[in-house]
Amino acid sequence: MIEKDLRNIESVKKVFIKTYGCQMNEYDSEKMIEILASKNYLITKNPTEADLIILNTCSIREKAENKVFSELGRLRKIKSINPNLKIGVGGCVAQQRGSSILKRSRNVDFVFGTDNLFELPGILKKISSDQKICKTDRHLRQKVRNFIPDNALRKTNNFGIKSFIAITKGCNNNCSFCVVPNTRGGEVSREPENIITEAKNLISAGTKEICLLGQNVNSYNANNINFVELLKNLDSLKDLERLRFISPHPKDFKKDLANAFVELRTLCEHMHLPLQAGSNRILKKMRRFYTIETFFEKVNLLRDRLPDATLSTDLIVGFPGETDEEFEMTLEAVKKIRFDSIYSFKYSPRPKTPAAKYPEQIPEEIRSQRLKLLLEAQEKIVQEKNNALVGTNQEILIEKKNAIKGRMVSGRSRGNHLVTIDNCENEVGELIQVKITEIHKNSIKAEPMSRFKL
Ligand code: 5AD
Ligand code: SF4
Repeated sequence: MIEKDLRNIESVKKVFIKTYGCQMNEYDSEKMIEILASKNYLITKNPTEADLIILNTCSIREKAENKVFSELGRLRKIKSINPNLKIGVGGCVAQQRGSSILKRSRNVDFVFGTDNLFELPGILKKISSDQKICKTDRHLRQKVRNFIPDNALRKTNNFGIKSFIAITKGCNNNCSFCVVPNTRGGEVSREPENIITEAKNLISAGTKEICLLGQNVNSYNANNINFVELLKNLDSLKDLERLRFISPHPKDFKKDLANAFVELRTLCEHMHLPLQAGSNRILKKMRRFYTIETFFEKVNLLRDRLPDATLSTDLIVGFPGETDEEFEMTLEAVKKIRFDSIYSFKYSPRPKTPAAKYPEQIPEEIRSQRLKLLLEAQEKIVQEKNNALVGTNQEILIEKKNAIKGRMVSGRSRGNHLVTIDNCENEVGELIQVKITEIHKNSIKAEPMSRFKL
């Protein structure tokens, strides 16, 4: 018995995974952890004690891609101390750059693409000091299929009370600036049964909030089930408290989805609706298939039904050919719509995308200056909107307990505001009613309603 236990301990290996980029990559990293756990790998937070290091990479902007190569440079030192260490590169940079990564960074042992996660155990068996592997072939040619084999569906929930579930992969929109259709391929919707089973497993393991993931979730369609029908199915699951999704495409946001926000108990009143730019000429060059006027209509579709629903967006400044006036139109749109938060980026030319070849690329100083102006305008809006929250009642799902200040907790409102509560007796995973009391530069404070006399 003792001998067997020792053998087990010896066969346990440690893996360090570093994740870059979007929630889809986080989701893929969770899956990698599950797959590797079944092969006796334990997760470590310390790369120097790892037997295996995986970088799950992002190539949405040049900066994200450069980070990967600088990290690989740093890892050279760890590998020189521990020559048995294996290093793998997965995700979007891996998919796009393939075996050229093995040539550029000699310390990399294997490269695997965005469809090749389930081949990890086989790859790990095959690699050796003189055999490097690159697997980036696509498996998802059909329009509908299971992303995860039924026997590998997550039964445990490693990541607490909030979980992501991918419902589509890839994208058919081909926005002219975006690398995703190259790195993740064409759009594939996942079988609804496969999604529901994963959701049920997660809920029975303690998940309270599910966030559905996809490049364009509202074009989901599988086995005659569309996105809104899928939401309805998930909403009816017992013990699920909250449902969210990212990201919808404005062109596919219609009445049925706006109604779902009102009708479905779990669907939180917050939507991330990427605008990208305020000028119709630029939107057309971006291949976004909507105008600023139709975008305003979409916003009203939601606000007419739920005036307090929160909205966030993505914006790109300095797209090729964007004039000062056209940038002003983005600023105007932001001031008019008054998003609750924005994710704004300087345009970054990406390989194999049409926009990278457009003439009139905008100089870096102008892109930086525009980003600064946009952030300043938004900062003002956020402060004003946050101040208006004071005195309102909100439902908070507690996500974290402060390790040092034991009774300080934080969580999110249904509108996705991050809220902290001092001296709170409730535990992580509980839903509580609070009143917003104070706004600080980087935080929103609240008190449990139970403390207020009615
Ligand atoms: N340059 C800058 N931002 C980009 N995004 C996508 N591609 C680029 C690019 N080439 C932004 C878009 C998208 C978000 C995920 O990233 O705003 O919505
Ligand atoms: Fe990229 Fe456009 Fe698809 Fe979003 S919708 S992933 S920006 S191509």
